Amino acid sequence: MTRDTAIFDLIAKERERQVKGIELIASENFVSDQVLEAMGSVMTNKYAEGYPGHRYYGGCEVVDMSEELARTRLKQLYGAEYVNVQPHSGAQANMAVFMACLKAGDTFMGLNLSHGGHLSHGSAVNFSGLMFHAIDYSLCEETGRVDYDELEQKARAERPKLIIAGASAYSREWDYARIRKVADEIGAIFMVDMAHPAGLIAAGLLDNPVKHAHIVTSTTHKTLRGPRGGIILMGKDFPNPWGKTTPKGEVKMMSALLDSAVFPGTQGGPLEHVIAAKAVAFGEALTPEFVAYQKQVKTNAAVMAQAFIDKGYKIISGGTDNHSMLVDLRTKYPDLTGKVAEKALVAADITTNKNMVPFDTRSAFQTSGLRFGTPAITTRGLKEDKMPWIVDLIDRVLQAPESESVIAAVRAEVNREMTQHPLFAW
Ligand SMILES: Cc1ncc(COP(=O)(O)O)c(C=O)c1O
Repeated sequence: MTRDTAIFDLIAKERERQVKGIELIASENFVSDQVLEAMGSVMTNKYAEGYPGHRYYGGCEVVDMSEELARTRLKQLYGAEYVNVQPHSGAQANMAVFMACLKAGDTFMGLNLSHGGHLSHGSAVNFSGLMFHAIDYSLCEETGRVDYDELEQKARAERPKLIIAGASAYSREWDYARIRKVADEIGAIFMVDMAHPAGLIAAGLLDNPVKHAHIVTSTTHKTLRGPRGGIILMGKDFPNPWGKTTPKGEVKMMSALLDSAVFPGTQGGPLEHVIAAKAVAFGEALTPEFVAYQKQVKTNAAVMAQAFIDKGYKIISGGTDNHSMLVDLRTKYPDLTGKVAEKALVAADITTNKNMVPFDTRSAFQTSGLRFGTPAITTRGLKEDKMPWIVDLIDRVLQAPESESVIAAVRAEVNREMTQHPLFAW
């Protein structure tokens, strides 16, 4: 077969883009060479509908062992009693929880999307908002932190069947115990989507939601530094039956409901090559090197947030407890939109994304904010001494987003520095 140069040329281009730039998208990271190798392996050839030991296809003995290893390592990483490693993505993991816990039209509550919540926590254009009745809680305007009083009041008044904590753009620790308390009071299921801080949690640097929530979901590709994918976990609530009865009147265990919501409920055959890569990433996350990496991610983020503040930028909530921060551009550059800022930074080989800020006066297409995160640059080996330098480069571009000469000068500095931080072994 002739080599598909059309695609491999594009892969080479994408590789070059990743190597030469500063990657500040909070939800991205660079996987290790062995994670990449597992993903590109012969495991992709295998059909394995079902779960280890109970498959609908022959020849699953080896993938059974690989999936079992992924499950064992993941349980160990978070102290979980139950895990499912098959969700193809974070949104798929969330969909499975909705399928297991709710009926169409049921009410659930998540963080307001323009305050940092995720699409799959109730957006009107997502399954969660289309098939279920979504209500939301918000951040306090003054503090930029979750308004737990409002959350409790709304939960008591509207009695959602499911309460979701977790976000795509929230830089602070969560009070999971407080949400669990109100969920128990109204008989709701409490789910935490830890997709963003999962790596910091695995390293013990943030509170572990598996200790508090009935169900936890996550992606595996953000701070956790694994392949793109999703997972579902349960801790102490695992042995509980759920009170949801089958048509025959039996009470089903939540674990069985979740397993069947993933397969056959919302997915077909599992991606066994991705599951093998997840197993590799979970193994890496169990090492002391990973804990050291996450400490550096957190330090880098704290120093970067302070550097923005020192230059007169507003950081929502005034700082960060995790790997990310949300910058409100309006205090320093009231006329600059997130859209224009993102484009100018990308032209300077600094990748970030526009983001709405809480109580934004602009639309999701324009936005008044930018979201930054340190997982990827920390994997590249950048330490806290480089964070003020990065913020200075960003500020130079944002002062003159239309200036080709400023952008070219910043890009040259970025490319020069990044040659010092090799990325891929092959
Ligand atoms: C909190 C949260 N949950 C779920 C997801 C969805 O993950 P995926 O893109 O893998 O579907 C994201 C993605 O950004 C996220 O931030």
